[in-house]
Amino acid sequence: MSSNEELPEQSVQNILEQESLKWVFVGGKGGVGKTTCSSILAILLSRVRSSVLIISTDPAHNLSDAFHQRFTKAPILVNGFSNLYAMEVDPNVEHEEGGSDITDGFMSDLANSIPGIDEAMSFAEMLKLVQTMEYSVIVFDTAPTGHTLRLLQFPATLEKGLAKMMSLKNKFGGLLSQMTRLFGVGDEFGEDAILGKLEGMKDVVQQVNRQFKDPDLTTFVCVCIPEFLSLYETERLVQELTKFEIDTHNIIINQVIFDEEGVESKLLKARMRMQQKYLDQFYMLYDDFNITKLPLLPEEVCGIEALKSFSHNFITPYQPSIVRGTLEEVEQRVSTLKEQLLDAEGELERLKKGKQKV
Ligand SMILES: Nc1ncnc2c1ncn2[C@@H]1O[C@H](COP(=O)(O)OP(=O)(O)O)[C@@H](O)[C@H]1O
Ligand SMILES: [Mg+2]
Repeated sequence: MSSNEELPEQSVQNILEQESLKWVFVGGKGGVGKTTCSSILAILLSRVRSSVLIISTDPAHNLSDAFHQRFTKAPILVNGFSNLYAMEVDPNVEHEEGGSDITDGFMSDLANSIPGIDEAMSFAEMLKLVQTMEYSVIVFDTAPTGHTLRLLQFPATLEKGLAKMMSLKNKFGGLLSQMTRLFGVGDEFGEDAILGKLEGMKDVVQQVNRQFKDPDLTTFVCVCIPEFLSLYETERLVQELTKFEIDTHNIIINQVIFDEEGVESKLLKARMRMQQKYLDQFYMLYDDFNITKLPLLPEEVCGIEALKSFSHNFITPYQPSIVRGTLEEVEQRVSTLKEQLLDAEGELERLKKGKQKV
């Protein structure tokens, strides 16, 4: 097993220090620790920024579980903080009644014929709302990978959709308005109103699109665990992000089993060896990334106190309490083994006696 000491020890300090950052996306496979990591990043950022908003876009929301507080689609102050807000939005929800003007008629059919436009619109509306609120930095606890990538494509989808509609409008000109009148659609649902609204949104979309592609403003933090599937998925994610020109240079490897407390379990030792294999690969593949390793805890990371206490590992690289090979560690290992031997001998005696009786 190669020693961790040779590997460079890194942290998420670079994110805390990058004052220009406005959007921090946190993503990865389901269950690897996205919510835990994004919550802790938001807590850490709240110490160095004037105001922080954390948004969950995962339909399986669990910010509420992590913070032990109920959140809604409007930002709420997180208990115990003066500048940390949280909200949970569902990018999949249908528009509420009266929530959007693009609900009726010919133009609506047209809009709906553009794949993903509906979701894109609600995402854009959310971004528009959030932008007017002037948070210093916004952290996204995103849904598992595929969904997130689609989310990041929304600005582009929306822009394309808008262009398509504008060109149609130019082509058909007055015909469209005649048709909407013919179908009895009132002025407020008329094509001009709808196109006006779409055009208004275009500015936000273009602005956000530019911001997402600006490494000074946006970064994507990949969360994973030291296992094959997660390594594979991380590579896919990094490649997609590169394709979308979205900056990423932080990887958090969660649930690492550290060699401590004189681990003698064969299962744990085998898993540690397996993890080390993938850790080595992560370091090899992403040598230009900041890689932060987080220990697997015996318990869940739930509630603000647990999050805060776990957050230390984000800044100071985790050190197992006992380092293998030191006098202290070997002494502890010998004493553990002695105890186990005594236990086993006792059990053997008991079994022998039982057998004699039979
Ligand atoms: N390092 C860790 N050690 C122990 N439990 C963890 C650790 N990281 C996360 N957890 C727990 O694992 C579960 C899944 O984590 P979560 O952050 O919700 O993952 P995701 O958002 O990626 O689905 C949660 O119950 C969380 O408290
Ligand atoms: Mg989650």
